[in-house]
Formats: sequence, C-alpha cells, structure tokens
Amino acid sequence: MTLLPAAGTPPAAAGPIPEVDLATTLAGVEFPNPVFTASGCAAAGQELGQFFDVAELGGLVTKSILLEPRAGRPTPRMAETPSGMLNSIGLQGPGIGAFLDRDLPWLASRGARAVVSIAGARVEDYAELAGRLRGQPAVALLEVNISCPNVEDRGAVFACDPTAAAAVVAAVRCAAPPGVPVFAKLSPDVTDIVAVARACVEAGAGGLSMINTLLGMAVDTTTLRPVLAGVTGGLSGPAIRPVAVRCVWQVHAALPEVPILGMGGIRTGLDALEFLLAGASAVSVGTAIFGDPSAPVRVLAELRTALVERGISRLADVVGLAHRPPAPPHLTGPEPPGAADADPEGT
Ligand SMILES: Cc1cc2nc3c(=O)[nH]c(=O)nc-3n(C[C@H](O)[C@H](O)[C@H](O)COP(=O)(O)O)c2cc1C
Repeated sequence: MTLLPAAGTPPAAAGPIPEVDLATTLAGVEFPNPVFTASGCAAAGQELGQFFDVAELGGLVTKSILLEPRAGRPTPRMAETPSGMLNSIGLQGPGIGAFLDRDLPWLASRGARAVVSIAGARVEDYAELAGRLRGQPAVALLEVNISCPNVEDRGAVFACDPTAAAAVVAAVRCAAPPGVPVFAKLSPDVTDIVAVARACVEAGAGGLSMINTLLGMAVDTTTLRPVLAGVTGGLSGPAIRPVAVRCVWQVHAALPEVPILGMGGIRTGLDALEFLLAGASAVSVGTAIFGDPSAPVRVLAELRTALVERGISRLADVVGLAHRPPAPPHLTGPEPPGAADADPEGT
C-alpha cells in the first residue's frame, strides 16, 4: 500500500523545505499569514481552541456582536443544499458586554489576532458598538457586518444600498478606536458590488470583506413547506465560491489599492490561492469548519505547499496576480481547446 502524504505536507524533496513568506498586511496591520476564520462559523474561537492553537491563524473573526444578547431565529435554521448550506441563525449571541468580559480576554490570552465583527439594526447601534471597543488592545481589525435589516428603513438591508452602507461605515469609523482599520463586509445580493465597495471606502473603510452569504431558500417536498422556520436563509459553502471569486475580482479591478479579506466556499489551500490570485490579501474559512474544525490550519498548510510547488516564495507576490497578462506558454502549458474563442461575459 502506498501511503499518501497528509494534506498540506510539502512535496518530499532532498534538502530543507523552502521558506515561504506568508505575511500579509491589511490596511497597515500586519498578520503572519493570510488565513482567518469567517464570522459566525467559530463563535469567538474557544471551540476551535481544543483542535489547534488559534494564534496559528492569521486572525480570528468573531461572530457578529450585537449590543444586547440575542437568541436568534427559530429552528430549524440550518439546511444542507447541493455543495452548500442554508442558515437562518439570525445573529444569536451574548451581546457586547459578555463579549468584552469573557471572549475578548480569552482571545488576548491566547495571542490570537482578533477581528471583531459588529452588527446592528440602526446606524447608532453600530457606532455604539464601535465605541465600546475603544481601549481594547486585543482588537486588530473591526469587521462591519452590514448585511442586516435597517429597522429605520422598512428593513432594507444596509449592504444593498451604497448610501446606507456608507452611513454605517462613516459612523463606525468615527466611533472606532483610531488606529484600528474598519472593514466593511459586503453582500453579493446586489446588482453592482463595486458601487457599494466604492461608497464604503469613500466613507472611511480601510478594507473590504467579501462575500457574506447569498439569500436562498429550500422547500421540503415531503412536508410541502419551507425547510427553514425563517423561510429564507443565507447560502454558503463551495456552491457560492465562483460568485465570491467574481466579486473579489471585480472590486480588486476597480479599487486595486483597497485590501480585501476574501471568503465564500474555501475548503482547500488551492481554493484560498484562487481568492488571492483574484485580488484578496487574506481569506476567511467559514462553512468548511462545521465539517472539519481544523480546516483553517489545514488550508494554511495546503496554501504554503501550493506556493512552494509553484516556486513562489512571497505570498504578497500572488495577490491579484490573475489580473496581469497571461504568463508565457512555457510556464502555463498548452491553452485548453476552445479557450481562445471563449465569450468573456460567459453568455
Ligand atoms: C452558520 C453561519 C453563521 C454566520 N454568521 C455570520 C455573522 O454572524 N456575521 C457575518 O458577517 N457573517 C456570517 N456568516 C457568513 C460567513 O462569515 C461567510 O461570509 C459566508 O458563510 C461565506 O463563507 P463560507 O462559504 O466559507 O462559509 C455566517 C455563515 C454561516 C454559515
């Protein structure tokens, strides 16, 4: 029997394993590597602590924190779909008070780089949350989950309107700890994601996280009713990866100086590499954690191997590389049949 090397093991070769500089910078904040967790898929990190050292990751993105504790939406609130998952958890959580008393000190004690995600129903909620994070040195970045209904505008989702998204970002930027960059987390459920991205950056976002889940739904053909008690839910997992890569590509093309934390269906190191090539400076692993809690560290090891195999010694060199003209044929191999006449719009 042939024993295959464990996933992420560098290829067996004579001599030492080549060094790869995995460091990345997001809006002036340095991280030792580009693999983070995705918000809502690892609470505040404690559960992952039993599987690996959370300080090994580039950063740990917390579940979105609200001002008050919240039980979330009724069950069932998770459903499996082809290559993905629907969830209607509804921002269950302990609220900012418990987060500051219990979760943030735990992350700090482990040496984790905390990316704190905040969410609200009003612009003022976001501003108050950001203000409560002042004087907390463990906060490396702030991620603003704007995929929330605005109670002051008939439940219209902030992230779906450039003006509403910008209002949240501006309020958070004003209230947040001065040295801590604010990342706006964008929704793919818009016609023009670049317009929302641009509005957020003009309002003071130092970077963008993308993408949040897509709005989806499933109907149970046995009960003849919606599967989720909340009827609709957020679609995540590998099914959304091409949508996420497209969003990262479009925003990086329009705003190449703006750092992107990319996510959506990342399960392997090669998936992560795809996002980096499209223009992300770091990635978050979300749904994959539910099936494999060690997925983020495995993805990191596999990414390192993928870079070594491609002769790349600096992660920074691959960020946005796919936007450059194709490499000469001797580096890429023969063009696949029909590629030359491919329709660029895919129609
Ligand atoms: C169960 C679940 C809960 C989530 N909760 C949040 C959340 O609290 N805040 C947020 O910004 N995104 C949340 N997300 C979205 C993820 O952070 C991520 O953007 C999305 O799932 C795409 O990545 P993935 O396919 O790797 O999961 C959640 C996703 C899932 C599956």
